[in-house]
Amino acid sequence: MYDFDREVDRRNTNSIKWDKREEVFNTADVIPLWVADADWPTAPEVIEALQQRVDHGVFGYTFAGEEYKKAVQDWYERRYGWRIRKDWIVFLNGVMPGMHLALRSLKKNSFKALIQPPVYFPFFKAVRKSGLKVVENPLQYKEDSGYILDLDDLSAKINNQSPDFLLFCSPHNPVGRVWEKEELLAVYEICQKNGVIIISDEIHGDFVFNKNFTPLASIIPKDQPEIITLSSPSKSFNIAGLQVAYAIIPEVGLRRSFKNSLTGIMPHPGPLALEALRAAYREGEDWLEDQLQYLRDNIRAAREIIAEIPGVKAAEPEGTYLMWLDFSGTGLKEKEIEDKLYHRARAGLQPGRWFGTGGSKFYRLNLATSRKRLRKALKNIAESLSGGL
Ligand SMILES: Cc1ncc(COP(=O)(O)O)c(C=O)c1O
Repeated sequence: MYDFDREVDRRNTNSIKWDKREEVFNTADVIPLWVADADWPTAPEVIEALQQRVDHGVFGYTFAGEEYKKAVQDWYERRYGWRIRKDWIVFLNGVMPGMHLALRSLKKNSFKALIQPPVYFPFFKAVRKSGLKVVENPLQYKEDSGYILDLDDLSAKINNQSPDFLLFCSPHNPVGRVWEKEELLAVYEICQKNGVIIISDEIHGDFVFNKNFTPLASIIPKDQPEIITLSSPSKSFNIAGLQVAYAIIPEVGLRRSFKNSLTGIMPHPGPLALEALRAAYREGEDWLEDQLQYLRDNIRAAREIIAEIPGVKAAEPEGTYLMWLDFSGTGLKEKEIEDKLYHRARAGLQPGRWFGTGGSKFYRLNLATSRKRLRKALKNIAESLSGGL
């Protein structure tokens, strides 16, 4: 019903993905497949709601009224069977600003935070800029089963280093895992026993393929688990530039401290951001489902071409629209891989080493672009690796 094939020219719109290519790849002549936004317009229902709000013409100080909280509450209940209370929701301008503030306001004893690389690289900065030290609990990669959490190492690190936090990425960017309920419960139990606060970044939660997504806090057999869930409609509806997100914090003490830390620093999301959230969650579900189907087909198209490229292996994304490609089998050095990718294939994939331990010789592919463009980039990669470009 909705058209995801139509290509919109995003150049010269101050798009980070399109207009910063020269800075990142040393050439503006690449198909950009890096920053995690989509190349298609948001849902028409969201655009219509924004147009109506723009037509009103008055953009004075705005607060996030009950209807916005209700839209979030209903979204979780409808899609994930999680009944959250409206007063658990704290609106934010972004997931990452929320993470920074949570780390700053809730650090207690050790001033350390665990992260699970390879992982969305701004996590590292969030920890360090908040005056904490990074403790790594790297994911394990198994040839047969793909990426798994290293729970023994998690327990050991918690016992030895007593971190204040675990920054959990669920679904996981970049490896594309959608954690099983048993994995979620195991992580929670280890953390809870040792007083480690989990900050669960669930921004990619609406992107799951043939699997269910479970918000971590929704399965904890406790009224007010000490979990800070961070999420947003920004990936799901491609509205990252509007800057609207939220934290869900059931536990009253954590919520109070977190809210205190926002005062005077984090403004309420603006009226356009809030309207976009409301329309997305209230009216955008059909569009989201179509988008998921388009992405499923993109995954299939990508998989077919990658299967023909010697030395390159793809981790199948269970969730997220990101594909994590292992180039180590090519036998090339990173510099050589990047020369092939950026200057011959003209495909702007994100270097895995940005994502920390375990990222070397991996490249992250953003699948949220037209199938035509995706195919072209991958065919170019195939050709450049076989010496043809
Ligand atoms: C896991 C993850 N968290 C957070 C963000 C950014 O969120 P925000 O723009 O709301 O700060 C991204 C964007 O790519 C992401 O992949």
